[in-house]
Amino acid sequence: MALASELAVPKYIPPFLRNRDKRVAPEDKPLLNLVTLKYENHSRQVSSFLNEVNEGLNKHAPEPCEEGVNGTYFIKDKHGETIAIFKPNDEEGDSVNNPKNKDLSQEEFGSIRKGIKAGEAGHRELAAYLLDSEGFHGVPMTTLVSIEHPSFQNAKNPSAALKTKFGSLQRFVPNNGASWDVAPKVFPVNEVHKIGILDVMILNSDRHGGNILFSRSKETGYSLIPIDHSYSLPHSLEHAWFDWFYWPQVRQPFDKETMSYIQNLDIDAKAQLLLNLGISEDSVQIFKTCTHLLKILAAKNFSLFEIASVICRKDLSKPSLLETLYLQAQKEVAAIEMKENSESLIPSEKESLFLQVLRSLLEKLEPSDLPPSPSTTHSSTHGK
Ligand SMILES: Nc1ncnc2c1ncn2[C@@H]1O[C@H](COP(=O)(O)OP(=O)(O)OP(=O)(O)O)[C@@H](O)[C@H]1O
Ligand SMILES: [Mg+2]
Repeated sequence: MALASELAVPKYIPPFLRNRDKRVAPEDKPLLNLVTLKYENHSRQVSSFLNEVNEGLNKHAPEPCEEGVNGTYFIKDKHGETIAIFKPNDEEGDSVNNPKNKDLSQEEFGSIRKGIKAGEAGHRELAAYLLDSEGFHGVPMTTLVSIEHPSFQNAKNPSAALKTKFGSLQRFVPNNGASWDVAPKVFPVNEVHKIGILDVMILNSDRHGGNILFSRSKETGYSLIPIDHSYSLPHSLEHAWFDWFYWPQVRQPFDKETMSYIQNLDIDAKAQLLLNLGISEDSVQIFKTCTHLLKILAAKNFSLFEIASVICRKDLSKPSLLETLYLQAQKEVAAIEMKENSESLIPSEKESLFLQVLRSLLEKLEPSDLPPSPSTTHSSTHGK
């Protein structure tokens, strides 16, 4: 039996993680250990959350969650109350350790993953939380951790006393159900807008009704909690779909506070944050594109519905208006380069020229340019 002090550190440490902070379990519980991999200095709230998780893991085994298509665990605190959701990256999608992968075919997994490779999801969960630095969207506190526990499955090393898993750890938010359990018209307009704006920025391709939880109280009414951002920040533009597209609130104008939030978004700072997390340059380029689009069209008083109409495909086999404009901007940049014989543009100059051209195309858009509403048969792959 390994002592906590002898436990091997996880072999996989993503390059962007600068420090490793190993939390040692109490002497009498040598089998349990939580290693926190730091991407930045943790806030005091994150540190205290991790302490609670660590204490809980000493008393209660992670409990597999039946919902969803990836391996997900409920983590309890020392009193036995669920406080966190752990999503290990070796249980994503079609990986051999995913306890749910026998229920789905390779093709189904391929369509669910929408171009996000195994191992990329956890970083996206963290990115969504860090992008929400002001807490406007209500993404629950998320961090990346490595947990060593005897109860985990590991197909490659089934007899190991402790199996180490790396993944995202998110605070469990008490709730009254998922949005698809009730008629969506009950949700306040600004609650729907706060989710929709996030989805546009990160081009979420998995915003089905099960990934919006709601809580309800007599005093505050309904509030919405966005979860599961594994399949956001994609590498290409084609997979965006949002189940809120047909909700009535998205046709309402943004209120003053929401508009001011949108117009004050610091796109370059957020893009840099994503690069620091190891999100690829193509995904960051898409984040920038979508966030510029959001700012420009909101300033032109487009509704969230109209903004989503630019982004989503009307017909799955044909490009969206955004995809068409993106291609047009690429062609215009190539033409400028040819004309000015400026092939020597460095990548950052080329990128800023591209964004400039794309922005000017978006600025010319009018609601009359929008395609008719996408077909109602279009919905996220495992939507209800
Ligand atoms: N922060 C949270 N607070 C409360 N419950 C949560 C939270 N995150 C996840 N859950 C619960 O765990 C379930 C599975 O989590 P999640 O949706 O992230 O997993 P998934 O396998 O990626 O799902 P999907 O099938 O949507 O891709 C959710 O449907 C929800 O019931
Ligand atoms: Mg889900």
